[in-house]
Amino acid sequence: MEKKDITDREDIILLVDTFYEKVKNNAILGYIFDDIAKINWETHLEKMYSFWSSMLIGEHSYTGNPMKVHIDLGKIAPMGEIEFMEWLVVFHTTIDELFEGKTTEFAKERAENISRIMQYKIEQSLT
Ligand code: HEM
Repeated sequence: MEKKDITDREDIILLVDTFYEKVKNNAILGYIFDDIAKINWETHLEKMYSFWSSMLIGEHSYTGNPMKVHIDLGKIAPMGEIEFMEWLVVFHTTIDELFEGKTTEFAKERAENISRIMQYKIEQSLT
């Protein structure tokens, strides 16, 4: 079946749900969410729908500070090269399974850029 591009909130929800289902079951990442950060998945997923809708489809609904959240997380969990590489592999695999097109490519670029900055800021905060 031909894949479509990411165009609306329904696409974002599918992307986010599929991505975090893989993350939950991932040996390198899952326990950071469940055992260390002990997140409420319902709240987290809602936040992530807003985050990616704001990034990709002009929704302007996300108001958090992801850099601060991950810098704080870096003080209690391993958040280095291995974890970020894994996060990106899972994100790219998920997105390529579901979509293709301009916004899809932009989403991967966005994720890579944010991830690079995040990792750098975490490293800086630990030295
Ligand atoms: C090593 C890779 C990563 C891990 C282990 C990770 C883990 C987490 C965890 C545990 C939370 C929830 C924190 C809490 O509510 O207490 C969170 C929130 C979040 N993550 Fe990540 N993350 C990673 C990378 C990324 C990347 C690359 C992005 C963006 C492209 C991202 C975007 C977000 C956003 C937007 C939130 C919500 C922040 C808020 O509360 O407003 N994360 N992450």
